[in-house]
Amino acid sequence: MGSRAHLFAAAALLLLPLFSGAAASDPNDELCLTHLSQSLSDPLKSLQNWSATTFTSPCEGSTSFLGGATCNNGRIYKLSLSNLSLKGSIPPHLSNCTNLQSLDLSSNALSGPIPPELGSLLNLAVLNLSSNALSGPIPPQLVLCAYLNVVDLHENRLSGLIPPQLGLLVRLSAFDVSSNRLSGPIPATLGNRTENLARFNASSFDGNKGLYGYPLPPPKKSGLSGLAIIGIGLGSGLVSLLLSFIVVCVWLRVMEQRSENGEGKITQLMPDY
Ligand SMILES: *[C@@H]1O[C@H](CO)[C@@H](O)[C@H](O)[C@H]1NC(C)=O
Ligand SMILES: *[C@@H]1O[C@H](CO)[C@@H](O)[C@H](O)[C@H]1NC(C)=O
Ligand SMILES: *[C@@H]1O[C@H](CO)[C@@H](O)[C@H](O)[C@H]1NC(C)=O
Ligand SMILES: *[C@@H]1O[C@H](CO)[C@@H](O)[C@H](O)[C@H]1NC(C)=O
Ligand SMILES: *[C@@H]1O[C@H](CO)[C@@H](O)[C@H](O)[C@H]1NC(C)=O
Ligand SMILES: *[C@@H]1O[C@H](CO)[C@@H](O)[C@H](O)[C@H]1NC(C)=O
Repeated sequence: MGSRAHLFAAAALLLLPLFSGAAASDPNDELCLTHLSQSLSDPLKSLQNWSATTFTSPCEGSTSFLGGATCNNGRIYKLSLSNLSLKGSIPPHLSNCTNLQSLDLSSNALSGPIPPELGSLLNLAVLNLSSNALSGPIPPQLVLCAYLNVVDLHENRLSGLIPPQLGLLVRLSAFDVSSNRLSGPIPATLGNRTENLARFNASSFDGNKGLYGYPLPPPKKSGLSGLAIIGIGLGSGLVSLLLSFIVVCVWLRVMEQRSENGEGKITQLMPDY
């Protein structure tokens, strides 16, 4: 009796993985996808199928009936939702897709911040959020995604410093934060080649007004040097001083002439006693 029950339990345990991939939907993936479809407005109806009410499981083994999703062992491992006119902000619950290896939300109209919670996607290798309207800082938590090898954030409205921690991502082979509103120094760990890590050239950092340092070229000498600007300031100050001096002199002279004339008239009009 007891041994039979044990056998049964063992068999069930052995068979469980075979079924879980095909039938039961992973609750984390469900949370992730539900929040994604709720957070984004979707004018092209690409995410129509993405709600817990319309799917039983987002994954059937390695395939998914969700456009843009790819599965592996019954878990979402790739989301490719580029150029679908998606609006809204990236939900922090995307971090519930814990097996995600590739996240591509590029060329949409996404706004708001990059959720720091993405740092808990420990398998993430590709993060492409380029060509959106994302704002706020680049979350330093991304350094927790140790397998990251593509970070493409170009053409957004990201501001603040580039987190120097990102230089610790040893697998990083593509990094692009060009055309944002980033400022401050480029971390040496991203700009300078150290040991045998491939690091990134100016095209990764271009188009950020406040960003400086190697590999960006030194700031262009504006046509006017500091001394010239001081000179012009002093010069124009002197000229305006001179002009007001002349105006005052002319005015005084005119007044003087008037009073001279007036005096003349008065003396003429003065009756002689
Ligand atoms: C939604 O799912 C159905 C099958 O259930 C599929 O035929 C259709 O192509 C899917 N739509 C999208 C936009 O993925
Ligand atoms: C984006 O999608 C539109 C249609 O919705 C298409 O015309 C355009 O070529 C696509 N762009 C890219 C870069 O794929
Ligand atoms: C899902 O993600 C949210 C936001 O990151 C988090 O607060 C929540 O704990 C996660 N849920 C599970 C079951 O991991
Ligand atoms: C990110 O996506 C854009 C647009 O879809 C694409 O052009 C670019 O090559 C991608 N970046 C990387 C590093 O693959
Ligand atoms: C980076 O390398 C450049 C050229 O090799 C050098 O001029 C610069 O000082 C280095 N910067 C840092 C912070 O190491
Ligand atoms: C900068 O690096 C990219 C690849 O990361 C490469 O395609 C491009 O040619 C490089 N530009 C220069 C000026 O070296």
